[in-house]
Amino acid sequence: MTAPNIETIVSLAKRRGFVFPASEIYGGLGSSWDYGSLGVELANNIKQSWWRWLVHERDDIEGLDSSIIQNRLVWKYSGHETTFSDPLVDCRACKGRFRLDKLQDVNCPKHPSVHPGDDKECDLTEAREFNLMFRTTVGAVSSEDDESALAYLRPETAQGIFINFANVLNTSRRKLPFGIAQIGKAFRNEVTPGNFIFRTREFEQMEMEYFCRPEDAPRIQQEFIDGFLDWFDSVGILRENLKLYEQTPEELAHYAERTVDILYRFFPEREDEEKQFDELMGIANRKDFDLKAHSKKPEDAEGKRLNQDSTEDLSYFDEQTKQRFYPYVIEPAVGVNRTLLAVLMDAYSEKTNEKGETRVILKLKPELAPIKVAVLPLAKNKPEIVAMAKNLKKQLLPVMRTVYDDTGGIGKLYARQDEIGTPFCVTVDHESLEDNAVTVRDRDTWEQERIKVSELKEYLRKRLD
Ligand code: GAP
Repeated sequence: MTAPNIETIVSLAKRRGFVFPASEIYGGLGSSWDYGSLGVELANNIKQSWWRWLVHERDDIEGLDSSIIQNRLVWKYSGHETTFSDPLVDCRACKGRFRLDKLQDVNCPKHPSVHPGDDKECDLTEAREFNLMFRTTVGAVSSEDDESALAYLRPETAQGIFINFANVLNTSRRKLPFGIAQIGKAFRNEVTPGNFIFRTREFEQMEMEYFCRPEDAPRIQQEFIDGFLDWFDSVGILRENLKLYEQTPEELAHYAERTVDILYRFFPEREDEEKQFDELMGIANRKDFDLKAHSKKPEDAEGKRLNQDSTEDLSYFDEQTKQRFYPYVIEPAVGVNRTLLAVLMDAYSEKTNEKGETRVILKLKPELAPIKVAVLPLAKNKPEIVAMAKNLKKQLLPVMRTVYDDTGGIGKLYARQDEIGTPFCVTVDHESLEDNAVTVRDRDTWEQERIKVSELKEYLRKRLD
């Protein structure tokens, strides 16, 4: 089962402490969200899964953590200063502001049954380009618009990788093909953010730039498309809710040869099946655009350097062929927040108990579950039971994230753990004091098994694997 819509997840996320509206006590800040105790654990587990899969399990990818604020020239030569913009239109009638290419996705604030521009009262201006980069100033400045101090919050993590290409290559002594992976925040002053954590102005990306010979790029791109479908499967995203989308020549970024997006069914409630899907990630062949753009060497037809400011040439020397060239780049770029939303939607399920009450179960993969085991005392006023439960928590904790919880009756505690996706509850009861055994309850089946305390750690470890 999948959540029927994003709203169901918004309400669960707030009720159980995954995600809260940001700045809520001051009226919020349009489409900004804070991650609560469970949300931050879930996001960390997603990032860890991605990092382990790409950086640790493979032998050809290095990690990196570059600065959010870089020299402004990075964004000049990457092309972001001139091209990273959306076409913006204003409506003189309702004072609304919209993205020209997304008019069909939003409703007119005055007449919500129609899209902006579809009503005769709408009075849209000509489109103008709006740059999405957040501006800031670095250091003590005399005025806020001091051009010499201008800097940007990075709109993607990718450029931090390209400008460190030579550093990583030289220190890791890599040969092609190899990749550099990075996870971190990115910022875009989106014209129309929305749909919960789907499109926000501050978000997190997991990006990997894989450097290769031009002739290998098409095969490697396909391998990453297939690889990411498998990784999404491993974190519990259903294949039936994913779709591949080949960008058309008109949609391709100016630097890309081929880009395939993996779409997820974020909007299952929409009648038109096409409109149910939106982008979860993109896998682009960026050719040699970026390394060339940040290099001091390339020249135009008149022999003038294309990059006047770089101090480095980011080309690669192939020892075997004795040739120097700019590697091609395959870039799988995925959002942490969109992955988290898709994971929550596909983990969502409902089950009816013997009293006919509907219960929510979050069937998260154990690897992603914020809490793996909850130890619950059946009687919290019995010190021996409480002591045994707390002791069990201590024993399990080094191996799996375990919590102790005595904040309600056992039925309530089970329901809470089901709803936050905890795979196992361990209950300590009166008999446990006699037989040194506990009851282990499975989140998905609600089946209970009696397990000896001496075997508990191993039993849970096997089940969680
Ligand atoms: N370096 C390539 C790049 O940044 P992108 O398609 O613009 O490509 C990659 O971004 C991924 O980052 C998207 O597929 C999406 O998952 C996530 N993303 C982009 N903009 C976002 C936003 N405003 N809010 C949340 N996630 C976003």
